[in-house]
Amino acid sequence: MTEIPITQINLPSGMIDLGLGDPDIDLLPLGLLRRSAEDYFAAGDPRPLQYGAERGNGYFRRSLADFLATAYAKSVDPDLLFVTAGASSTLDLICTLYTRPGDTIFVEEPSYFLALRIFKDHGLQVVPIPIDNDGLHVDALDDLLAELHPKFIYTIPTFQNPSGRTLSQARRVKLVELAQRHGFLIVADEVYHLLAYSHTPPEPFAVFAGEVEQIISVNSFSKILASGLRLGWIHAHRTVIDRLAGSGLLDSGGGMNPFTSALVRGLIESGGLEENINRLRTEYACRLDAMEGALRQHLPSAEYSLPGGGFFFWVRLPGVETAELRRKAQGYQVDIRQGGLFSSRKGLQDYLRLGFCFYGLEAIEEGVKRLMDCIRQNRIQLQ
Ligand SMILES: Cc1ncc(COP(=O)(O)O)c(C=O)c1O
Repeated sequence: MTEIPITQINLPSGMIDLGLGDPDIDLLPLGLLRRSAEDYFAAGDPRPLQYGAERGNGYFRRSLADFLATAYAKSVDPDLLFVTAGASSTLDLICTLYTRPGDTIFVEEPSYFLALRIFKDHGLQVVPIPIDNDGLHVDALDDLLAELHPKFIYTIPTFQNPSGRTLSQARRVKLVELAQRHGFLIVADEVYHLLAYSHTPPEPFAVFAGEVEQIISVNSFSKILASGLRLGWIHAHRTVIDRLAGSGLLDSGGGMNPFTSALVRGLIESGGLEENINRLRTEYACRLDAMEGALRQHLPSAEYSLPGGGFFFWVRLPGVETAELRRKAQGYQVDIRQGGLFSSRKGLQDYLRLGFCFYGLEAIEEGVKRLMDCIRQNRIQLQ
């Protein structure tokens, strides 16, 4: 009998999918949301069930601004926040409003593979820029600006998916200068910024959004609360917010997710969001350690740098074709994501992405061990 689908995840029984970037189902905040929903219904305000204000409910934006001001240690103007249905639909909306098919955009190499799919849907010419330990190679980007005129650069500056790398402060400053000089947008996908474990990242691009017209900071509740809420926010300059709010999509449908944001507003105001993020940071830090320990024990020749936050290890197995390894791994009931998925020029063939947030400690250890068994029994040679 086929299972009735509820979640996007569809794993064969017994499979450990270490490639996943989804939150752990057992860590989803059912209790916090129940309490917030009870308070909401007790208050008896039907307005969030009406078409919402285009920028999002003003009370929600105010609560969110207060929360972010504490998190960023900088004041946040609620008028620079725009409520969205999560980062994916935000990227789609940005492409709709700011690009035409055939336009050039820059992305990091590697980049979030499903964002690459969205850019493909919009017929964009995607130009990869390499990254190193300090994140996006801004000098390489600068060189390309002599011949190319991108509409935007899509960057995941903090605890990048998949590499875990974080863009240094100096490069952030230079990127902003270049964007202002050459007139392209910085679409900064900051969904992992608040998930720091061992490393405090530089300030997010969001904090400069008020002054710099070129910055669009894209944020989401998916990784810090629950992905099924389909809720997020943009933090950007007034001109960007006006443009988004004036789009046909918002004019017809009203603001995004007014009902969900009313529930999440209560959760923010009661301290539940902060509590949840602290809980996730503690738990994910343990899982990161578990994956590191398992890699050291079972795959000592793997090359990687330790992520300071986020969801992923980006591992290089020199000379190993990881798409082929993934096919073989199915027989060992373990799955990964091959590096090629994250490349916009068919590179990164001997990299793989491992996620450490979806599973508990035992499954992480068992999954890495199965991967090692697969490598050893198939006599796959690391160079
Ligand atoms: C960098 C990045 N952006 C966006 C998303 C998707 O965000 P949302 O659930 O808000 O659409 C993910 C999810 O893995 C991600 O890693």
